[in-house]
Amino acid sequence: MAKINRKLKIFCVVGARPNFVKIAPLISEMKKYPKLIQPILVHTGQHYDQAMSKEIFKDLGLPKPDIYLYVGSGPHAKQTAEIMTRLDDVIVREKPHLILVVGDVNSTLAAALVAAKLRIPVAHVEAGLRSFNENMPEEINRVLTDRVADFLFTTEHSANKNLLKEGLAKQKIFFVGNVMIDTLKDHLKKSQKSKILEKLKLKKGSYALLTLHRAEIVDKKEKLHLVSDILKAVSQKMPIVFPVHPRTQQKIREFEMEKDFQTPNLIITEALGYLDFLHLENNAKVVITDSGGVQEETTILNVPCLTLRQETERPATVKIGTNVVTNLNKEKILREINLILKNKFKKGGIPPLWDGKAAQRIVKILERYNQFWSEN
Ligand code: UD1
Repeated sequence: MAKINRKLKIFCVVGARPNFVKIAPLISEMKKYPKLIQPILVHTGQHYDQAMSKEIFKDLGLPKPDIYLYVGSGPHAKQTAEIMTRLDDVIVREKPHLILVVGDVNSTLAAALVAAKLRIPVAHVEAGLRSFNENMPEEINRVLTDRVADFLFTTEHSANKNLLKEGLAKQKIFFVGNVMIDTLKDHLKKSQKSKILEKLKLKKGSYALLTLHRAEIVDKKEKLHLVSDILKAVSQKMPIVFPVHPRTQQKIREFEMEKDFQTPNLIITEALGYLDFLHLENNAKVVITDSGGVQEETTILNVPCLTLRQETERPATVKIGTNVVTNLNKEKILREINLILKNKFKKGGIPPLWDGKAAQRIVKILERYNQFWSEN
């Protein structure tokens, strides 16, 4: 066999909280092969708060980013353009062999576009998920990132089908499982040491956990009113813990709705670190959310999940797991909560390859291709 003559220099680009969770197992897997792979962690700075970024990095044991772009918040076009401009300079200077992006945030699309223009191969982890709702900025990011990616790493069968339907080449698609679950499995034991339940005076299995941040819900006053109405009803049945995302906090303030979210039995906290949040999730009676990652985590934890959106781009969590899509339909939510309280909620299973080994599979594939590129 020909000798491998290059070490694969991979830019691992992250920007927002869920990216950090997905990149952690990939970086640690790549670091097992120091002679073959050189991962370079690039943080765009899309999320910059202590709670949204530094705390999560610490909990996940992620190294300090090698490159930080200080982009910050802004309207979508500006934020995306700023990431592109700053990243372009760095890529031209550092000459990575591959750009790896995860998920569906603005940083994902921006990095993929820059790489494609510079003709550097792009790997997209969590490719092919589709909500078919183009009012979600994430859907636009997903479709366009996949269009320019050379490696499409998928988490569930629906993603493979979506990509094929869009005409993307079969050879580019690799069904590898879910890196978010790798991280969960790596940290579940550690999370059990969290003191968050004592701190919030909650008993295991007795509360609801709520997360809410999607623009299509929190940026609309009438939808936030529906949410507050739902919370009032649910909080009659059990306490609700609500770690508030900065976007949501801002919108509640902007719409002067602070009073609507002051309900007895509704415990509001700042955004939490990964370990505290995972501990709350694992011990909740029910999780109510609009997040994608939380739908997947609850499926693995076997905790009932009610998704406040009209659809999900992660159908495996509904077909196989513990997720039910309720939209902002109060009657439906209360019906499901009653089933949960009577232990009659649907039983969930585990989607294929959500086994904690997705990062291993991805790194093996990239390493094999590097050998091929080096030899040809
Ligand atoms: C982003 C992603 C979304 C992901 C979410 C997870 C896009 C389009 N959206 O949404 O897919 O699920 O992250 O958290 O990329 N802010 C802070 N501190 C921070 C970060 C943000 O205060 O550390 C505030 C900013 O004022 C900003 C707002 O939150 O205007 C929104 O931030 P942004 O990164 O644009 O989108 P998210 O809503 O967080």
